[in-house]
Amino acid sequence: MTISTNLTIFGGTGDLTFRKLLPALYTMDITGKLPEDSRITIIGRRDYDSSHYRQIARDWVEKFTRLSFEEKAFDRFSEKIDYYRMDFSRLEAYHGLNRYYRENDIHSHIFYFAVAPRFFSIITEGLKLVHGSSSGKVILEKPFGENLAAAAALNKELEAFFGPEQIYRIDHYLGKEMVRNIQAIRFSNPIFTDVWNSRYIESVQISALEDMGVETRGGYYDASGALKDMVQNHLFQILSIMAMEQPEEFSPKGLHDAQLDVFRCLQPADASSIESTLVLGQYEGYRGEPLVKPDSQTETYGALRLFIDNQRWKGTPFYIRTGKKTGKREIELAVIFRRPYQEVEPNILIIKIQPTEGVYLQFNIKRPGDSEDIIPAKMDFCQNCSLIHQLNTPEAYERLITACMAGERSWFSQWDQIEFSWNYISHLKELHAAKRLPVYPYRPGTRGPVEADRMLEQYGHSWL
Ligand code: BG6
Repeated sequence: MTISTNLTIFGGTGDLTFRKLLPALYTMDITGKLPEDSRITIIGRRDYDSSHYRQIARDWVEKFTRLSFEEKAFDRFSEKIDYYRMDFSRLEAYHGLNRYYRENDIHSHIFYFAVAPRFFSIITEGLKLVHGSSSGKVILEKPFGENLAAAAALNKELEAFFGPEQIYRIDHYLGKEMVRNIQAIRFSNPIFTDVWNSRYIESVQISALEDMGVETRGGYYDASGALKDMVQNHLFQILSIMAMEQPEEFSPKGLHDAQLDVFRCLQPADASSIESTLVLGQYEGYRGEPLVKPDSQTETYGALRLFIDNQRWKGTPFYIRTGKKTGKREIELAVIFRRPYQEVEPNILIIKIQPTEGVYLQFNIKRPGDSEDIIPAKMDFCQNCSLIHQLNTPEAYERLITACMAGERSWFSQWDQIEFSWNYISHLKELHAAKRLPVYPYRPGTRGPVEADRMLEQYGHSWL
């Protein structure tokens, strides 16, 4: 029997596979989203056989599954998994992999590169060696290279083998429920659609705080830092969806073009105002984390102020901040409207991405009773407080793997978006370094360096 789809995961014994991919695939299986006759081939160097690997996978899935874990369901699911031991950095090894595919009648492929970007090229070469021309789709994990030049070269190589339409670059933020909801909130509510511009909006904030530090990922993180790890990919994707024009058509291309237009209009950072545009911080104790350089200048916190130079947004600042060890885990997008007159509070719309998923709206009313005072009323809609919504909302990886299987490309990053945002962030960092601006220390558990608060205060704003 020919297998309908085989998902080969390179990096099958890594953290991402255990924590995210296998639990997502398990949930897809029990909710009927994984085709009956699909298979999963796990590639790893360790000396396991399939049954040993399945046992290890079982414990991870039990721990990280979104839905309840059931032994029988897992057994059924695990029969789809095979472990294939190979050193994927050796080209000769790909002949054996090809034999394995032939013997198991596997002809339809999705390859998942859940490995560091330095291995993308050798895996592609190996597949090319045995397949000649491309056969299948490839899912790439971020980062897509270690710097822009390397990423561009890699991109060329991958596109030459797989073809641009078969490459799915994961940005798991695009799979988050409330990120996907931004379009619906913006474009299906005249109360927002018609005032979504600088005439009515004073500022926009995109805030992604994390309570955890770098944990075991110090090696990768120290070479990357908060701006490259979070801003240029996840938060810039959100920025572009928040700021884009309504796509002409609801197609991958429509969405992609609308997002790209936002990147094209990003006002370039300027050396003379870099101090009031970018604040970087590092949590105390970071330099003692495993694999982090003892004199590291890498930022674990970044706050920036930027403008989109088009008719819709001229004059409205977009503030972005992200940081590790900031005492809470919370991602929120806040839209602060201009006040009709100074004495009242502004209308505020907050789209809550995580851990709470929901929408908060603040508007003004008369104080109840005899008073004529104007006071803010606050409406707070929590979507994931409902168990039904929780059960029915796929986790980001479930959603994105399902989309890739269906050939649905809208919610993946496109190369030109990556190139734009990479250039923008590199330029920003260069200006910061050229002026020898400090990376401010901050205490773990606080909201980052006070300088980030001051940056907003000088413009009469504050983080919500
Ligand atoms: C990853 C970053 O892409 O996203 C991590 O590399 C970060 O540093 C993570 O912690 C945050 O993802 P989430 O889904 O937990 O918000």
